[in-house]
Amino acid sequence: MGVYSLESAAEASRLEEQAYRDNYSIENEFRNFSFDPDERVMDAGCGTGVLSRYLVEHFGVKHVEALDYSDLRLKQARDLLKGKSKKAIHFMQQDLSQLDPRFYGKYDTVICRYVIEHMAEPLLALQGLQKALKKNGRLIVVELDGVFTNLYSENVLFNHYLEEFKRKIHFDLNIGKKVPNYLKRVGLSHIEWDVTLIKSQGKTLQEERENTVQRFRSLRDFFTEIFGQAEKSDEFMQLYLEEMGRPENTLVFNKYICTGKNCGPVSSA
Ligand SMILES: C[S@@+](CC[C@H](N)C(=O)[O-])C[C@H]1O[C@@H](n2cnc3c(N)ncnc32)[C@H](O)[C@@H]1O
Repeated sequence: MGVYSLESAAEASRLEEQAYRDNYSIENEFRNFSFDPDERVMDAGCGTGVLSRYLVEHFGVKHVEALDYSDLRLKQARDLLKGKSKKAIHFMQQDLSQLDPRFYGKYDTVICRYVIEHMAEPLLALQGLQKALKKNGRLIVVELDGVFTNLYSENVLFNHYLEEFKRKIHFDLNIGKKVPNYLKRVGLSHIEWDVTLIKSQGKTLQEERENTVQRFRSLRDFFTEIFGQAEKSDEFMQLYLEEMGRPENTLVFNKYICTGKNCGPVSSA
């Protein structure tokens, strides 16, 4: 099982706030979807459960199973439950890279939002999620392409750090554009996708900066492992924030929302 790089207590508030920032808005992402209140939904890699709660509160979904491998995240998620969500959402600890067969063939909809970009083997997880679907069930994957790494600057030291970061990470921050092909590879059909350009300018630059400051609170050890020294980790984070703030530098990435349908045989435990 790979280790999620942003695992820390402070990450919960970042995830909660992120879901309401323009660039990552759940409301915008799910505007074109509809849900039957009686359908059974899996929120795969649920984090604080912000999406699960949205499904209950805005679409009236009555059965959500929310899976994550982090004990801490699940505890924080349970503490955030109130009202209808308490009855409708069930949190469970589970590593998506090795989904237990007891989840096979049970879901009308599986949603995986900002999770596989953190995985060393995203296809393994997608294979499991395909198996979790009922006949004609749908998998919805929301993923970014170029997040964090697409900051263009001409600062030589910064670029040196950024290149080293990109070389050494064991996960894929450019996964968004690959997801439709991955859905096909795991056997889904009726594949559809949409993409939105996310540009950080004005209000969204300010929000992306706050989001990055919050991310950095959890990432010092992770960057230290990559760059070999805590001082280098600190220098990289400081440079990143400085370069982000320069008006001539651009920070642009894409958000993909992809769906596929399970028209093949249904897996069982
Ligand atoms: C960026 S957060 C996204 C959380 C949530 N989907 C959201 O939209 O706010 C990624 C989540 O994926 C979880 N995660 C990463 N790898 C996982 C794995 N192999 N199995 C289960 N959960 C995983 C992390 O613990 C974290 O909560």
